Amino acid sequence: MTSKMKFVRSVVKAATLANVPKHVDYFSKFSPSPLSMKQFLDFGSNNACERTSFVFLRQELPVRLSNIMKEINLLPDALLATSSVQLVQSWYVQSLMEILEFLDKNPNDRSILESFVEVLEGIRNRHNEVVPTMAQGVIEYKDAFGQLDPVTDHNMQYFLDRFYTSRISIRMLINQHTLVFSGNTNPSHPDTIGCIDTACDVTEVTRDAYDSAKLLCEQYYLGSPELELRQTNVNNAGEPVRIAYIPSHLYHMLFELFKNAMRATIENHVPCRILPPIKVMIAVGGEDLSIKMSDRGGGVPFKKTERLFSYMYSTAPRPSFGERHRAPMAGFGYGLPISRLYARYFQGDLQLYSMEGHGTDAIIHLKALSTDSVERLPVFNKTALRHYKISLEADDWCVPSKEPLDLAVYRTV
Ligand SMILES: Nc1ncnc2c1ncn2[C@@H]1O[C@H](COP(=O)(O)OP(=O)(O)O)[C@@H](O)[C@H]1O
Ligand SMILES: [Mg+2]
Repeated sequence: MTSKMKFVRSVVKAATLANVPKHVDYFSKFSPSPLSMKQFLDFGSNNACERTSFVFLRQELPVRLSNIMKEINLLPDALLATSSVQLVQSWYVQSLMEILEFLDKNPNDRSILESFVEVLEGIRNRHNEVVPTMAQGVIEYKDAFGQLDPVTDHNMQYFLDRFYTSRISIRMLINQHTLVFSGNTNPSHPDTIGCIDTACDVTEVTRDAYDSAKLLCEQYYLGSPELELRQTNVNNAGEPVRIAYIPSHLYHMLFELFKNAMRATIENHVPCRILPPIKVMIAVGGEDLSIKMSDRGGGVPFKKTERLFSYMYSTAPRPSFGERHRAPMAGFGYGLPISRLYARYFQGDLQLYSMEGHGTDAIIHLKALSTDSVERLPVFNKTALRHYKISLEADDWCVPSKEPLDLAVYRTV
């Protein structure tokens, strides 16, 4: 028996709550293995092998879970102690233990493969509420301690970016496996492999996202700006812009951007004047697929642009948590930061260019080629650890004084 197999046997035997820290230590020593869009597609193609996917996931899921569990443990004690964060942690522990049960199981046993799919579905449901629950923990912590100091604020932003990216990636793995191997293929969409559309029509998703945001906007403001959509396809002029992508991720980003653009347009317009339209330009080249959304909603000052990506930064009144199941127009402050994570997850990005006094351009950059779209995943290592240990050091750029310099003190007598 190899030493790895021996360890696996001991892990399974000892998969009790008391041993969780040991398992987390063990699996967090492995780096997650990022998959490319192409690999996801191969895993789900006609000759897909459920056993291979099972054997990969029963190792990879504990690795991804454990890497991020190590970082949860580095959160400030008072935040860790909130009931919300405790709940999130308990979900992670439970899910890790459930997967560890499969480490010594025979991949050739059909019933094992079936129960693995069931367990994964259970895990996905268990983690449905992770984002609002974690957000609630951060609110409780902020309410108790007031405005966070710059170091804690930086750490929180760093942690949440990594935590939510990890969650997106874990759900992606689970969705692919359960959708591809549960036998429920979607015949109306032959191009769909799991949650990936191999020929995702970007214009169609953009229109869908606009329509939903418009509906919401009209409920709130009794009006909404029009959409002006243009596209350019360098490779196939006149053809729709298509890429292999996850339509739900693209929809999420565009829906958030449309809600923001609509809100800014309406709140900045002179009553009784016609609303300026939201303009969207979709362009695809050899490397990038970019979507630019331009509004004339008055923009934001340049200095504030990065702050818009802070979790919980919002200029809208905070909706009550009871409202969280109805998509709110604005107010949680999670729209931009989470959308940027979706874009970055497959090596893209989301950027805002604002001209105060005029309006904002939001640009989503995605990789046009499925070989370039590779998961971007956090790994727990010394570099990550150092980020949590940043101390308040003096700035290496001068801080301008608020008081005008009194030159009189330099006058020689
Ligand atoms: N297109 C835009 N024009 C002007 N301000 C914007 C725009 N998009 C975002 N913002 C500002 O950024 C803040 C954060 O946006 P977001 O993360 O989507 O959270 P929310 O919409 O819940 O406030 C908004 O409250 C708003 O002040
Ligand atoms: Mg928003």
